[in-house]
Formats: sequence, C-alpha cells, structure tokens
Amino acid sequence: MKQSWLFLALLVVLTRSFVVDNASDSCSEEEEEETDNTKVKCPKHYIGFYRTPNDANNQTKLWCLRAVMSNEPVSQARAQEACEAEGSVLSTFANFDEQKYIVKRATKHFNHRNITNGSLWLDGARIDECQTFDITKQTSAPCNDKKQVFRLIDPRTDPKYVWTQWYRTSPTWAYYPFRTEDYVTYPTADSVIADCIQMWISPRNSDRNGQLHSLNCDMAVAPAKINEPLYTNYGFVCGRPPVLSFY
Ligand SMILES: *[C@@H]1O[C@H](CO)[C@@H](O)[C@H](O)[C@H]1NC(C)=O
Ligand SMILES: *[C@@H]1O[C@H](CO)[C@@H](O)[C@H](O)[C@H]1NC(C)=O
Ligand SMILES: *[C@@H]1O[C@H](CO)[C@@H](O)[C@H](O)[C@H]1NC(C)=O
Ligand SMILES: *[C@@H]1O[C@H](CO)[C@@H](O)[C@H](O)[C@H]1NC(C)=O
Repeated sequence: MKQSWLFLALLVVLTRSFVVDNASDSCSEEEEEETDNTKVKCPKHYIGFYRTPNDANNQTKLWCLRAVMSNEPVSQARAQEACEAEGSVLSTFANFDEQKYIVKRATKHFNHRNITNGSLWLDGARIDECQTFDITKQTSAPCNDKKQVFRLIDPRTDPKYVWTQWYRTSPTWAYYPFRTEDYVTYPTADSVIADCIQMWISPRNSDRNGQLHSLNCDMAVAPAKINEPLYTNYGFVCGRPPVLSFY
C-alpha cells in the first residue's frame, strides 16, 4: 500500500515535469445542454474539450479525445483503423489543455505497463510536394517550414497550436536507415520518408515530453536500437464528436 502511494506521488511529480509554456490547469467539461431536452456528451473513455468554432476547425465546438494504448506497437494505418472501428478518427490536440490531458493519460498507461519512453500516433500527414528525397525541395519552403510541411487529415482540429509543438529538430524529413555512413550519401536505396506524426512520451525529459516528431508511417517499432524505446508507438489518440442524448 505504501508503495502504491509512493508510485502515485511519483506519478504526480513526473506529470508536473511536462513543461510547455503554460501552467493553466483548467478542467474540461464533458456535457453540454443543447436544447430543452437534449444534451451532447462524450462516449465512455473519452473526455470532451471545448473548442472555439471557426473555419479552421470546421466549426467544432465540443471534441472528444481518448489516448488509447495498444497491446503491441502499432503502425499509423493500424492506429487509424482502430480509431475508425470505434467511430472515431486518428486525432490530435488543439491547445495546451488537450495536449496536457493526452500526456497525462499516456503517462499513466505507460507507468502501468512499465514503459519509460514511448510514442503515440497523432493525426497528420506530410504534404504531397514534400514527400521527396530532393534535398533542394526539402530545404526550402514550404518543406522546411514547421507550420506548412504537414497537414491534418481530419479538419476538426485547428492546426495552429499543434505546429508550435514540434520537437526542436523536428520534423526531419527522413530517418532510416539510421547509420552514420548514410548521412554522407543520403538518401540510400532503402531510405523512407517520415510522413507521419508521433507524440513523444518521455516523462523524465521535459524537453521532449509531449512534443511532436515525424516517423515513417509503417513503423511500429523504430529499427535504430539507440532510439527504439522512445520511437516505439505504444498507442494513439482517437477523436470524435460528442453523441446527442435525450432525456
Ligand atoms: C495560457 O492559457 C490560458 C488559458 O487557456 C490563456 O488565456 C493564456 O493566454 C495562455 N498563455 C500562454 C502563454 O500561452
Ligand atoms: C465539416 O463541416 C461540413 C459542414 O457542416 C460538414 O458537411 C462536414 O461533414 C464536416 N466534416 C467533417 C469531417 O466533420
Ligand atoms: C520494469 O522495467 C525495468 C527495466 O526494463 C525492469 O528491470 C523491471 O524488471 C520491470 N519491472 C516490471 C514490474 O516489469
Ligand atoms: C528515456 O529517454 C531519455 C531521453 O529522452 C533517456 O535519457 C533515458 O535514458 C530513456 N530511458 C530509457 C529507459 O530508455
């Protein structure tokens, strides 16, 4: 019993170390009165976040998010399928509160599974013209612009905030093979472009925790031994509109 309290205390400390430049701790609401006898609410396992409806988020007002853990590491396509199977889409966060919620849930799941570092798939795809090994293109606009090089597939999240959350050196355009000699002669025949987005969960490393990183979409587990734990996709984030209920 004593040990589980210690574990909880540690969890709180670790969660606190997730630093993004805003310490607000506001709670989201899960239900909203729509009319006299209906209300909208998020399904079980999801938590609702209010968004300001506008053209950038397809007029979304309440959005339900869930951080899902997977029994084995998953590719981005499998993550998409899993979200769709429960009536959702692969989603991402629109603001600090949503990001913090995802990090908190994932950290809890990871701790249960004894995972110290890992990733979650989020919505996002590299734009077509930047899916290239042409270094000239990769080093000029829009491909070298953190705000333009990726787009969200689902229109119900305004991407403005999420593009400020790339890791310092992300998104790099290609990762693997991850051998020193490849840097000289890049790209190699077996190079692949990192066209999808993962969120790093690394509670002891506030520099990386909750930040975005690009990875090859089919890569459930990164092959490079050195980064394997951090780049391994143990889960994903599903999002959906609330359901209407009558009472
Ligand atoms: C922090 O969040 C609050 C409420 O969400 C917002 O009003 C404020 O502008 C944010 N501050 C920064 C620095 O992002
Ligand atoms: C975006 O909004 C339009 C107009 O309300 C709607 O027809 C469309 O289904 C929405 N797209 C999604 C993905 O919800
Ligand atoms: C947790 O992981 C560490 C490091 O991999 C290992 O030494 C330890 O035995 C694991 N504990 C449990 C309960 O699985
Ligand atoms: C987790 O990642 C951090 C850096 O992000 C590293 O210092 C640490 O050794 C990693 N831990 C494990 C168990 O891989």
